[in-house]
Amino acid sequence: MKFDTFELERFQSTWENQVEINISESGVHPLTVDELFALAGQVNAPRVSRRNFPAPLSGTRLGYSQTDGTLVLRQKIARLYRGATTDHVEVTNGGSEANFVTLWRLVERGDEIVVMMPNYMQVWGLGRAFHGRVKEWWLHPVKGTTSPRWVPQGPELKKLVTKKTRLIAVCNPNNPTGAVLKRNFMEEVIARARWADAWVLADEVYQGAELSGAITPSFWSIGDKAPYKKLIVSNSLSKAYGLPGLRIGWLVGSPEAIAHSWAAHDYTSIGPGALNDALAAIALTPAVRKSILERTRNVLRSQWPILEDWAEQNGDTFELIKPQAGAIALLRYKFKMNSTQFAEHLRRQKSVLIVPGDHFHLDGYLRVGFGGHLKELKEGLKRLSQVAARLHGG
Ligand SMILES: Cc1ncc(COP(=O)(O)O)c(C=O)c1O
Repeated sequence: MKFDTFELERFQSTWENQVEINISESGVHPLTVDELFALAGQVNAPRVSRRNFPAPLSGTRLGYSQTDGTLVLRQKIARLYRGATTDHVEVTNGGSEANFVTLWRLVERGDEIVVMMPNYMQVWGLGRAFHGRVKEWWLHPVKGTTSPRWVPQGPELKKLVTKKTRLIAVCNPNNPTGAVLKRNFMEEVIARARWADAWVLADEVYQGAELSGAITPSFWSIGDKAPYKKLIVSNSLSKAYGLPGLRIGWLVGSPEAIAHSWAAHDYTSIGPGALNDALAAIALTPAVRKSILERTRNVLRSQWPILEDWAEQNGDTFELIKPQAGAIALLRYKFKMNSTQFAEHLRRQKSVLIVPGDHFHLDGYLRVGFGGHLKELKEGLKRLSQVAARLHGG
């Protein structure tokens, strides 16, 4: 099997611990275990007060945990999806394993896969590795009468999805644009999938990290009655919850689809780590979850203006489209240089890591993460404009 290099992941894992300033991250600054305990204690959730908490965790037996996730964790996840039970949920090692298992079990040689672009590129790469025919459904930057946004074109989806389409993969809210699909587009995706009898994979890892605070509806809740029978939702604690180190993700689908995913999961990592599962169950206790998402929104709301003001001051060199969700935004730059070369140049000259648009097949752009450490964000932007000014000026 041949894998395309996963440029974004390879680039980040090579450099993120080598640079002084990392503004390439797509999530908010992660919580420490103490901070998670403090949030849990603050809201006085039963059994997770600061005083009580260490007992259940230190009492966790370090054997194999329930391989599809403990019942208690699956119950907490199921509660987030209308009508779902624990049989609709499979816990995985991050959203990345959730996506992997889904593509692995669904894609056969020659299958058409329609992938929303720009994209995190995992699904795109896996579709190709499993010998699918990847067709790209692009969002476009549109100025319009309201503020500029990245939006899809319905007719393009209609053209791309055929009776040979096996899977439509969307990322909503989207990485790297931070765009959120309007409900009518979500309905259109489902309607088109129904017409083609295709699966839908909705990667919703940025759900809950909306700047407005209005949580993006899940594809699970699209439609009046039951969710579309071939819908699979993937999500994780990595982005909106600021807990990427827990490596806890999940899939939600019909009990049949989930049983099939579980069977595939037996061949990958067997199951999630016992400590991760226990900590995730605390994070998803309703009151704790609410506090975590509030923290995320506070980070986004207080740090977005820093990036926005910076972009305004540097408006002759950069153009920014405001994301609706996620701690990421795409910056279009106005000087002539390839984005990978620029990111390399910035790293070498100023020890700042930023993601080149090339990683999303979008040269001329950079993806900047604004949810990380505040001091690093300010310093990273300062160094970015210094380097860019030299290029733009000369
Ligand atoms: C859209 C999207 N899906 C999935 C993932 C995988 O995240 P994790 O495995 O940490 O849940 C990422 C990570 O950046 C992402 O951006």
